[in-house]
Amino acid sequence: MAGRSKRRLSWRRRRRMVGWLKIILLWLVVIVVGYYAGYLVANLQFQADRPADPQIIAHRGDRAHAPEDTLAAFRAAIQAGADWLELDVQRTKDGQLVVIHDETVERTTDGSGQVADLTLEQIQSLDTGNGERVPTFEEAIQLAKQAGVGFFPEAKSAPRYPGIEAEMVAALRAQGYLERAILQSFAYDGLAEVAADNPDLQVCPLFGLWQFDLDQPGLESARQVCAMGEMALLYPWMIRQAHQDGRQVYVWFGVIEHPLVMRILLALGADGLIVDDPGRLAGILKR
Ligand code: G3P
Ligand code: CA
Repeated sequence: MAGRSKRRLSWRRRRRMVGWLKIILLWLVVIVVGYYAGYLVANLQFQADRPADPQIIAHRGDRAHAPEDTLAAFRAAIQAGADWLELDVQRTKDGQLVVIHDETVERTTDGSGQVADLTLEQIQSLDTGNGERVPTFEEAIQLAKQAGVGFFPEAKSAPRYPGIEAEMVAALRAQGYLERAILQSFAYDGLAEVAADNPDLQVCPLFGLWQFDLDQPGLESARQVCAMGEMALLYPWMIRQAHQDGRQVYVWFGVIEHPLVMRILLALGADGLIVDDPGRLAGILKR
């Protein structure tokens, strides 16, 4: 008898818990839908500001189909319809600029060690997959120039390589391709310094996790800002604010580079998306 009433009690408790969970879930849906509906209603008049031709920026080349940050990935990206090549630049022991994302070579090559501890010859003897090599920055510029695509290099781990931004600008200038380039970095001081020294240089300060404010002291003159997609999704006002300040917003992704998210960001007015699979974005844009 006592056992049966205990069972009935816990069954009732469970039912009550499910009821509460449903109410909480419903409220969450109402809040999220209300948040974005509020944004859309408040910004109807800004819909005309949406870029006519959002740019396809290939993140580390077409890394969905070729080893990242290699000439093969850049060629594939161009083939897939990319408007720009995004790439990462670091410096070797003997002072050469090379295209590689990590500070170490383990993840992307068959070698080991720090980029800064290897000479250009040593780093170019490594295999980055499919027989590809780590390209020099100069090789990448030449490839972009031949194809006529925009160039979107990032001074990666810039504080580790003092003066790397100025060296990148010098290389772009020497190749006559500075005007088709936009230099990105998370290191705002270095970016501000090189921008001040080169008024014809375009820069795109990178904003990451929990950065919702795209203004950065010292970089007020930046005509472009590179926002993290997940943050723009949480706080779409940042795109509108940047547009009001006369800036273009290029969006890169932390983890959720999904077609639905891309469509939402385009609808919110992103001027370009930095994506692993440029062909897929070309399909979304019906190019
Ligand atoms: O373009 C921005 C993006 O490249 C920054 O992230 O780590 O892929 O270089 P990461
Ligand atoms: Ca990058």
